[in-house]
Amino acid sequence: MNEALKIDVVTLFPQMLDGFLGESMMKRAAEAGLVQFRTVNPRDFTTDKHNTTDDRPFGGGPGMVMKPEPLFAAIESIQTPESHVILLTPGGKTFQQADARRLADQHSHLIFVCGHYEGVDERVRETLIDEEISIGDYVLTNGVLAASVVIDAVVRLRPGVLGGGEMATEDESFSSGLLEYPQYTRPPEFRGMKVPEILFSGNHAKIEEWRRRKSLERTAERRPDLLGRRSEEEE
Ligand SMILES: C[S@@+](CC[C@H](N)C(=O)[O-])C[C@H]1O[C@@H](n2cnc3c(N)ncnc32)[C@H](O)[C@@H]1O
Repeated sequence: MNEALKIDVVTLFPQMLDGFLGESMMKRAAEAGLVQFRTVNPRDFTTDKHNTTDDRPFGGGPGMVMKPEPLFAAIESIQTPESHVILLTPGGKTFQQADARRLADQHSHLIFVCGHYEGVDERVRETLIDEEISIGDYVLTNGVLAASVVIDAVVRLRPGVLGGGEMATEDESFSSGLLEYPQYTRPPEFRGMKVPEILFSGNHAKIEEWRRRKSLERTAERRPDLLGRRSEEEE
């Protein structure tokens, strides 16, 4: 059996993860021993009586910054030479399917560091972080939702997690640099809308060709940037 992927989330709000980790695919993956989730709260690593995790920014300005001491202590308590430490931040590289594939294939221990307030003290970023990820050009109140997005995309690519086996992830949007073709299921006609005839033909080569054409059409219409990226990669 494959070694379980260990995933630690460092956050001031561990309860935000309860619903996400306690349902559906994440729950089943953990129960099957394919992944091990843990949360670590920097507040448990504070040493003052108020359990302070944030402070005002040097140089002035609005908001609060997460202090380095509790974050260093929290991360160092779980870090090993195998750990890959990821900071969720709007300033990171925008997360793509290829990143999900790389993280699923190349690592055995992922540590997600979730910021809050104005973010984390720069010395945490400089010293402890291997990679910085943004999930898009917008600002969330803290990193837990962003970490959940990345965790979901990574865990479903680990061997054995999806019931349909490897095939279920090979065919879908972005894995080939294209959006997925339209999918239909029963009934063959619904409110006058018919499923394309070709899908009943049993001719797998023709179906494959139709799907490929639809993928290309859909990508050209909605995400022409993906086609540009593909041709750059092919050059
Ligand atoms: C309010 S945000 C801090 C924003 C920071 N002041 C800035 O302008 O870049 C608080 C935390 O939410 C998380 N976060 C917010 N937006 C994010 C995004 N688009 N991708 C990843 N993490 C995000 C990060 O962990 C961040 O430290």
